[in-house]
Amino acid sequence: MKKILLAGGMGYIGSHTVIEVINAGYEPIIVDNLSNSKIEVLDSIEKITGTRPLFYEVDVCNMKDLEKVFEENRDIEVVIHFAGFKAVGESVLEPLKYYENNLISTFNLLEVMQKYHCNKFIFSSSATVYAVSKVMPLCENFPLGASNPYGRTKLFNEQILEDYQKANPSFNVILLRYFNPIGAHESGLIGEDPNGIPNNLMPYICQVATGKLDHLNVFGNDYDTKDGTGVRDYIHVVDLAIGHVKALDKLVREENVGLKVYNLGTGTGYSVLDIVNTFNKVNGNLVNYQIAKRRPGDIATCYASSQKAYDELGFKATKTLEEMCKSSYEFQKRKEA
Ligand code: WQD
Repeated sequence: MKKILLAGGMGYIGSHTVIEVINAGYEPIIVDNLSNSKIEVLDSIEKITGTRPLFYEVDVCNMKDLEKVFEENRDIEVVIHFAGFKAVGESVLEPLKYYENNLISTFNLLEVMQKYHCNKFIFSSSATVYAVSKVMPLCENFPLGASNPYGRTKLFNEQILEDYQKANPSFNVILLRYFNPIGAHESGLIGEDPNGIPNNLMPYICQVATGKLDHLNVFGNDYDTKDGTGVRDYIHVVDLAIGHVKALDKLVREENVGLKVYNLGTGTGYSVLDIVNTFNKVNGNLVNYQIAKRRPGDIATCYASSQKAYDELGFKATKTLEEMCKSSYEFQKRKEA
């Protein structure tokens, strides 16, 4: 079986991708420093798939430790890079921590891949690389321009990879721009499990639903949207994981991919109140909310065109908003049981 290294493979998106990588017949190798994930995820992956992936508790920013992984696994076919910090608010307070971690991790991976002749790379990018746009849906050729240090690390990574691929034409890169991943694996064994008070909407709603938090603050209802609340492109994390396997298949199947970039979204925007109402409909009326003031840095509307991913990868998100809300809550309940 072809070996796939998943840097950050114990995290929310990484762990769901490990499962789909196994389902697709590849052999995953996980590298993760557990700074934003738990070792129990490995047991969950084994319970779900019957396979216990090879796991190295390694910080990708530590070149010596990273090189050991490649020394012991000489035939890694593709590297998928999830290993990055991702809290927008935290990145504003601690920019150097974000630039060091999110950039050095990429530099190290590229260097060690070159040394061990591995030339296929998938990068976890984000919708935050797009400049503010009145025109929706966002297409891959729209203007770029990040508005916070976290988003800039993603944009800088994209540009570094573009320069590197131009200088090394035999190196092949796929950039995947995520929109708003939510939901959890149907087993309820893995899901979004942020440390501390959640920044993102769905994990916050789930903690209100279980009573861990009192109510949801809806950050503004005076945006220029159908109900005044923010609109985003929510995609089920399992659909997102399958999108990674589609990209993986392309790199394995084709020789000279070069550098390609794809949005992974659904093409549909939902408002905050759509999420709350759908969550309450499928899980029982568990979430109450108050309208609060806007969160600095938020934009009114953001959703993707994923036509290019459909045309070139055969990717299409299939899971419904109801499934996203139900699976998120199932995971939260199991976690707190
Ligand atoms: C969604 C909507 C909020 C919390 C972030 C990152 C982005 C990407 C996805 C990685 C907005 C509203 C939220 C709350 C609320 N991550 N909201 N009350 O900001 O679209 O994107 O996650 O790539 O990089 O920036 O996601 O879930 O924080 O917010 O009203 O308690 O929910 O205003 O409209 P966001 P989010």
